[in-house]
Amino acid sequence: MSDPKILAFAGSARRDSLNKKLARVAADAARAAGAEVTFIDLDDYPIPLYHGDLEEMQGLPENCRRLKQLFVQHDALLLVSPENNASVSALMKNTLDWISRQDGDQSGLVPYKGKVAALFAASTGGFGGMRGLIHLRHILQNFNVLVLSEQFVLPHAHEAFAIDGAIKDAKYSAAISALAQRLVSVTAKMKS
Ligand SMILES: Cc1cc2nc3c(=O)[nH]c(=O)nc-3n(C[C@H](O)[C@H](O)[C@H](O)COP(=O)(O)O)c2cc1C
Repeated sequence: MSDPKILAFAGSARRDSLNKKLARVAADAARAAGAEVTFIDLDDYPIPLYHGDLEEMQGLPENCRRLKQLFVQHDALLLVSPENNASVSALMKNTLDWISRQDGDQSGLVPYKGKVAALFAASTGGFGGMRGLIHLRHILQNFNVLVLSEQFVLPHAHEAFAIDGAIKDAKYSAAISALAQRLVSVTAKMKS
């Protein structure tokens, strides 16, 4: 049985995004737990805001197709979302929306089929983005993604990282590793 393949990304395109930093740490932890992890930066896959007329005239944007294929090629999702006004970031929602669109004969549910997901968030605030993850969980469950009940949120994230990108607090590092390991082990069981 091959190692679980995990696609990891953050719902922020910002160059110095705290959620991207957390996604990198979590992706490394999943690699250490035995997964083959692809980390992508959504800034490398610019897509327009979903617009039905645009879709009707031009079909799916090329970057949307690339993202769809990445979803199809992986067994699990490691998602890290900023919290914007107590919900998931607009970039994360727009990305998941475009990916859910039918492409030719391929149903929009195909990229989500059989997937396991682990949710993470980082925020400068004291709640760490936990309210956004409630909505992200709901969206993914609507696609029948198996979302792990465990999740990780990083409060005061602007103070949480060392210059090399590591998490300063050992308790947080351990919690991130535990969730990454859980994602790898549940995904491996789903594949067997
Ligand atoms: C429009 C907007 C709304 C926000 N709403 C929240 C919020 O509801 N809760 C929260 O903890 N942080 C909120 N923030 C702060 C972001 O979580 C913070 O800027 C975070 O660093 C953004 O993620 P990034 O660093 O990955 O780009 C908001 C920021 C913006 C721009």
